[in-house]
Amino acid sequence: MNDLFSSASESAREEVSRLKATLTRANIDYYQNSSPTISDQEYDRLMRRLQDIEKQYPELLTPDSPTQRVGSDLSSTSSASKQQRKAFQQIAHRYPMLSLGNTYSEQEIEDWLRHLPAGVEIVAELKFDGLSISLWYEHGRLTHALTRGDGVRGDDVLRNIQTIGSIPQVVSAELPDSFELRGEVLLPWEAFERLNKEREDNEEPLFANPRNAASGTLKLLDSKEVERRGLICYLYYLLGEDLPFDTHYERLEAVKQWGFPVSDAIKLCHSINEVMDFIAYWDTERKNLPVATDGIVLKVNNIHQQEELGYTAKSPRWAIAYKFPAEKQKTRLTSISYQVGRTGVVTPVANLEPVQLSGTQVSRATLHNEDFIRSMRIKEGDMVWVEKGGEIIPKITGKAAEADDDSTDYDYRFTPVCPECNTPLVRVEGEAAWRCPNRKGCPPQLQGKIIHFVSRKAMNIDGLGDETIAMLFGEGLIKTPADLYSLSHADLASQERLGSKSAQNILVSIEASKSVPWARVLFALGIRMVGETTARKIARRFPSVEALQWATREQLTDVEDVGEQIADNIIAFFNDTDNLQEIIKLKNAGLQMQVSEDRQASSSDLLQGQTIVISGVFSRHSRDEYKALIEANGGKNTGSISKKTSFVLAGENMGPEKRKKAESLGIRLVGEDEFLGMINE
Ligand code: IVH
Repeated sequence: MNDLFSSASESAREEVSRLKATLTRANIDYYQNSSPTISDQEYDRLMRRLQDIEKQYPELLTPDSPTQRVGSDLSSTSSASKQQRKAFQQIAHRYPMLSLGNTYSEQEIEDWLRHLPAGVEIVAELKFDGLSISLWYEHGRLTHALTRGDGVRGDDVLRNIQTIGSIPQVVSAELPDSFELRGEVLLPWEAFERLNKEREDNEEPLFANPRNAASGTLKLLDSKEVERRGLICYLYYLLGEDLPFDTHYERLEAVKQWGFPVSDAIKLCHSINEVMDFIAYWDTERKNLPVATDGIVLKVNNIHQQEELGYTAKSPRWAIAYKFPAEKQKTRLTSISYQVGRTGVVTPVANLEPVQLSGTQVSRATLHNEDFIRSMRIKEGDMVWVEKGGEIIPKITGKAAEADDDSTDYDYRFTPVCPECNTPLVRVEGEAAWRCPNRKGCPPQLQGKIIHFVSRKAMNIDGLGDETIAMLFGEGLIKTPADLYSLSHADLASQERLGSKSAQNILVSIEASKSVPWARVLFALGIRMVGETTARKIARRFPSVEALQWATREQLTDVEDVGEQIADNIIAFFNDTDNLQEIIKLKNAGLQMQVSEDRQASSSDLLQGQTIVISGVFSRHSRDEYKALIEANGGKNTGSISKKTSFVLAGENMGPEKRKKAESLGIRLVGEDEFLGMINE
C-alpha cells in the first residue's frame, strides 16, 4: 500500500486508546481527586505523544480526546461527595476557560516567537502552579468565583474565595461595570508544609504538592477551615467588553492599581533575548519564592493582535507556556534496600547521601524495579540523579557519572526473599515487579488488605489511618478485616495516640459501615483486579454473595468488564476456605452481603438491549451518574457512535464531530429530560 495514503495501523489505534485512557484517568486524579498519579512531566510526555499520533492519523482524532478538552474539576462527578455537589453551584463561564500550549524546549519557544507577526511585544510572566479561578465583578462587587471546571462550566466557590484577604470584595465605582479577572489560587510552601505536618499527625493522607493541597482546600465545605489554611491568589488576566487599555501589560498595571494582587514578576519584552533572559533568571530565582511555579507564560501584549491570532480548541494561539525541567540533584547511592507494598510488590529503594531538593531534604528514593536498575547498571556507591516530580516519593532517574569500573562485569541481583517474611519472591512473566507470594502471612500484605477494606471508596471507616492499623495489627487485635467488628472501646482507647473520644468515633464509623451497599463490600473484599467499577457491575448481576460464589466462569465473563483473568480470580477467591470463613464472619457481623430491597427496586430492564453513547455536558446528573443509570436499567454505555448505537444521550455542547456522525447514521439524539423520562426518574 502507498504509505502516504495508508490509514492508521492497529497498533496506532491501540496506542491512541491506551493514551486516551491513561490521560483521562490522570485528569480525574489531578483535577477531581486532587491526588495526581503521574508526574506533570510524564503527563506532558503522554499528551505530546497522543498529539503526534493524532497529527499523523487525523482519522483517530475525536472531539472527546484529552488533546481537545481541558481536564475537569467539576463537583458534579461521582468522586465528589454529595454535599460538595450540592454546595457548589455550577455556572457557565462567559468566556471558555482554556489551558495553555506548553513546551519544555527553549528551541520551541524561539520558534513560537519567530512565527509571530513582526514587531510584537511579549509579556513574560511566571506560571504559578496552583489552580485557576475566574472572579466576576458586577458594579464593583465580587459576585462569583468559578473554578475552571470542564472549561465550559465551573463550580462557584465564592464563599471560599472570600477567605482570601487580598481579593477585594468591593472595588471603586469608577471601574468598568462588569469585568472578569482570572488568576491562580495557591497555597504557599510554608502553609503547605504546616498542613501536611498536621495531616501526618492525624494520620490523614498527605497532599503530594501545594497545587493539590490548594485544590483540595478550595473544594472544602467548611470556609473556616479554608481560611485557616491560608490560600493566596495572583491575578494575571482581565476580560470583559469595552475595557480600558489595548494592551495586556497596561491592563495588568491597572488591575494592580485597582487594588488586586498581581505579581511583580512581569516583564514587557521586545526581543527573543529579553524573553530568554527572563526564563534564565527565574529558572533559579523561583526557588526563593514563597509559592510554587512550574514555568513561564508568554503572552502577546496587544489585545488586537491577540484577537487576530485567536484560539485552537484548547488554548490561545497568542500565549504559550515554557515549563521548567523537573528539579534534580546528584548524590551518592549508599545502599539499596527493599520494601514490600500492600499488594506484595517489592520495590527497590535507594538510600542516599542526603541532598536538598525542591525545599526538602531527600535521603531515600524509589529505584522502580529490577529492570530499571539493570538497564542503568546502577550499583551501591554510584553517583545518581534524584528527582521529585509532582509525587511525594522522589525517584532515581539515572546514573550521574560513569564509575571507573563500568567495563567490568556488572552483577546486580534483586533480593531473592521478602524483606518482611523471608518468603522467596516470584516474578510473574511479563511484569517488571517481583512479588512476595505469601499473601496470607506477610504482614504488610495483611495490613494492606485491612487498609483497603476501610478506605473511603470501600467501607469508608474513618479514623483508622495506616499507623493505627499497624498498631492494632502489631498487637494481634486485628488479623483480618472481620476482626474490626469485634474491637471494643477498651481495645482502641488503650492505644497510644487514641483517646476515648477517637475510639468512640471509630466504633461509630465501624457500625455505620454495616449499611455500606453490597457492591462496595464486594470491592472491599479486595479480590485481585476487581476495582470499584467492576465490583459495581458484578454486584448488579450477582445480587448476593451466594449468587457470586456459585457463578460459573461463563456467567462471570458475561458481565461487562469481566474477562477470563478476573473471572478466574473470583473463582480462586471463593475456592479458598480462609476467604469463605472471612465472609461468614463479615456476614455475621451484619455487613450487606446482598443488594438491599430499595436498590433492587431502583434498577430495571427498561434499557435492556440498548447501546447508548453519552456526549456533552449535563445539568441534572454527572456523566458518571448517567453511566450508572444506563447500567442500572439494563443498558450498555459505549464511547463511540457506530451503527450499533441505539441512541445518543446528548447534553449541552455536544462535539460537532459526534453530532455529524450521529446524523449521518440516522441515530437519534435524546436530551437529558427525555432520557430521565424513559427510565421513570
Ligand atoms: S494565562 C488564556 N498566565 O496555567 C490564557 N495562566 O496550563 C489563560 N497559569 O489554566 C491563562 N500562571 O491556571 C496564565 N501567568 C499566568 C499563569 C497561568 C499559571 C495557569 C492557569 C492555566 C494554566 C495553563
